[in-house]
Amino acid sequence: MTYDVILHNIGQLILPKTSDYPLKGQDMKELNISEDAALGIQDGRIAWIGSDAQAGSLKSTERIDAEGKVVSPGLVDPHTHLVFGGSREHELSLKQAGVPYLEILAQGGGILSTVGSTKKAKEDELFRKASFHLERMISYGVTTMEAKSGYGLDADTELKQLRVIKRLKEKYPISVVSTFLGAHAVPPGFKGKEEEFLDEMAGLFDVIKDEELAEFVDIFCETGVFTIEQSRKFLQQAKEKGFGLKIHADEIDPLGGTELAVSLGAASADHLVAASDEGIRQLTEGNTVAVLLPGTTFYLGKDHYARARKMIDEGAAVALATDFNPGSCVTENLQMIMSLAALKLKMSAEEIWNAVTVNAAHAIGKASQAGSLDVGRSADFVIWDVPNYQYIPYHYGVNHAQSVYHSGKKLWE
Ligand code: NIG
Ligand code: FE
Repeated sequence: MTYDVILHNIGQLILPKTSDYPLKGQDMKELNISEDAALGIQDGRIAWIGSDAQAGSLKSTERIDAEGKVVSPGLVDPHTHLVFGGSREHELSLKQAGVPYLEILAQGGGILSTVGSTKKAKEDELFRKASFHLERMISYGVTTMEAKSGYGLDADTELKQLRVIKRLKEKYPISVVSTFLGAHAVPPGFKGKEEEFLDEMAGLFDVIKDEELAEFVDIFCETGVFTIEQSRKFLQQAKEKGFGLKIHADEIDPLGGTELAVSLGAASADHLVAASDEGIRQLTEGNTVAVLLPGTTFYLGKDHYARARKMIDEGAAVALATDFNPGSCVTENLQMIMSLAALKLKMSAEEIWNAVTVNAAHAIGKASQAGSLDVGRSADFVIWDVPNYQYIPYHYGVNHAQSVYHSGKKLWE
């Protein structure tokens, strides 16, 4: 047979383990690296994996020479706030003056400032702006990602954001998973009436399901935002409607959002900087993925990072994401997050690669399609201009992607 594409002369092929469950503990520490592998691609899928010597005798329409460089699955970014209006560079001086993140929010800034800009923006404008950021993510090696709403906090603007995400799914070949985060903050008119607000947001579940606008529902469970009890009720309602669950949990105060996520069977619990020992213990028992966002801790200027070492060593599943958003982490660069994971979370290169591929895919329900390379899977891969897989976390702040492929087609170089 003649393959569409043969990818050969690969220095190191990164092959995260495919698994029905997220990789936990010891399994996260292992990463299969092949130094003599080649790929055959047919109709956008991997049709053959064998040795470089065998590849020499195979016929193909096109041959890609990886020039002895590193090839990995396309990266998966499982937590982004991709769609928003405006920007918040004016808040940098407040941060420098030491005004805490939740204080800026309480004063009507922060998330609420972006809510104002997002309400004002026309759908097409949001679409153009989100396309720009999404294309930059692709350029950094991402071929599967999640995108949240949450800068509307009213029916019209939340649905407008979700429609933008739906249009992005249609426009781009990469896989985009959509999350409804209507419970991202308490709008000024609802202070003290949080339950009423959450009922209003839960009132959108049916239309979101009917129009296939989101796969997941998320909530910001935090001091001054939504309590554990409010979050439990809201997520329980979402679960009954058939949504997957996510939660912004234990980011600043240890409210117990981690435990809540595990008890509800959430796909992920995100942030977890303040997760308790008991929360971490419970993570090891369930299949909820701990999505860690060290870029946010860095950008908020904090010294205390999520306890990734304890989580992994005790047997939890960890993934990494950018948390790209206009306030607490303004970067599309998942490679930068890989460096922060090495330096601040003390994760090994093997753990980091598993965290941005297979475990990130599990966190957004995409593990059967994304996060690893295997016969039958979509040929989503990145050729990295680096000498070995440890090099990316090591050399930080720049883009090491040389070319990015989805379904065997080049998306970026
Ligand atoms: O994940 N923590 C809450 N939400 C976002 C920040 C959003 C913003 O500041 O605009 C986060 O960090
Ligand atoms: Fe977030």
